[in-house]
Amino acid sequence: MADGRLPCVEEPRNNTVAVIGLGTMGAGIAEVFARGGHHVLGIDRDHAAVTRGRNILEASTTRAVDKGKLSIEGRTDLLARITLGTDLATAAAADLVVEAAFEDLTVKREIFTELDTLVAPTTVLATNTSSLSITEIAAATDHPERVVGVHFFNPAPVQRLVEVITTLQSSAAAVTTVTDLVSSLGKTTISCSDRAGFVVNRLLIGYLNRAIRLHEDGIASRAAIDAAMVEQAGYPMGPFALCDLVGIDVVLAVVERIWGETRDRVDAPAPLLRQLVAAGFLGAKVGRGFAALPDHGPRSGPGPDATVLADLMVLPYLNEAIRMVGTGYATADAIDTGMTLGCRMPAPFEVVAERGAAQILAAQQQIFARTAEPAHRPCELLESLAVAADPTAALAQLRSR
Ligand code: 3HC
Repeated sequence: MADGRLPCVEEPRNNTVAVIGLGTMGAGIAEVFARGGHHVLGIDRDHAAVTRGRNILEASTTRAVDKGKLSIEGRTDLLARITLGTDLATAAAADLVVEAAFEDLTVKREIFTELDTLVAPTTVLATNTSSLSITEIAAATDHPERVVGVHFFNPAPVQRLVEVITTLQSSAAAVTTVTDLVSSLGKTTISCSDRAGFVVNRLLIGYLNRAIRLHEDGIASRAAIDAAMVEQAGYPMGPFALCDLVGIDVVLAVVERIWGETRDRVDAPAPLLRQLVAAGFLGAKVGRGFAALPDHGPRSGPGPDATVLADLMVLPYLNEAIRMVGTGYATADAIDTGMTLGCRMPAPFEVVAERGAAQILAAQQQIFARTAEPAHRPCELLESLAVAADPTAALAQLRSR
């Protein structure tokens, strides 16, 4: 370690977590566990992938040192807790396995089938997936009860949220093990069922898809939409910058899954999303995404101003968040925690409280009248909040449930 490089040997340790897949998310997750004092076995399929993972780890920890968040000795110790290699069999030494391989069901299922035969019967197998069904991954094992989802957010060392996804077969013990372990790393967990998009992506990715469609339909430039969301809505970054950060292929995969579940027209992938993926414009990880494409402004006239643009974007998102609570999909607290700690966005139900349900209802009715999209119809719970005798109390009660 004298030269600050990570070792590339394959030795089993105690108190060990194996992380399978060393792309952006896998490397970030490996760093999170190493920061928490765990020994980490980082495993990928070949030396090129391992080298890429090593570079991500080194860059991220160097950034932390440069920012004064980590001492040079702390960095050395952290990196020394991570052992990188290409042999999946070394995962047998782990107490917990977190798989963060490529978002491909066949690939993930093959890894789980193999892991199931390699690790001890007590080892919990977790998958970090954005778009795939945990249940289908678990079905590739003989022990689906020990399989749970752990969904980290990008950048994993920074975002405080982890969604813990339970299938119908996950054992309470496996869920508790993972939840406790992830919490001990300083992360906040929310519990989700195995639905498309879980909680956060259900809201976030629908919003990204709408932004792409808005641009594709010639309503506004990408720069104008990004600026509106940052300056007017207070989001940390605009939707196009975020697509480039998380990966346009990942966004498409999540949109496809949500659309597969809802079959609602508004959830269908924006055509541009498919074109970008087909053309290999996958975002920052390959060095080209939206940022590499020429931008274009509105097709006619000056287009909506920033306030209207932000409202076009935020209102359907709030309507959807309220619908999710109304249908029992998630609690208001889980949604607020998810969006603030996963994406650093304003808490949706705080925004509802600030703007008032009646005002949101009136604006959403206008969107519905203009688009005639059934998905934009104000949801029942929004309507009842707006006409409640004491809307503030009604919302407070909703948020405490
Ligand atoms: N790796 C490690 N650390 C990073 C990082 C990276 N790639 N990028 C930024 N950071 C750290 C910085 O070191 C800094 O740390 P500090 O606060 O301890 O000093 C902190 O993040 C802030 O970074 P910067 O000051 O450089 O930049 P910003 O203030 O502009 O923040 C951002 C950058 C953290 C990316 C912020 O814009 C943000 O949170 N954006 C929203 C990202 C988001 O929504 N993520 C979730 C996406 S959804 C997802 O991942 C799920 C998937 O399934 C699709």
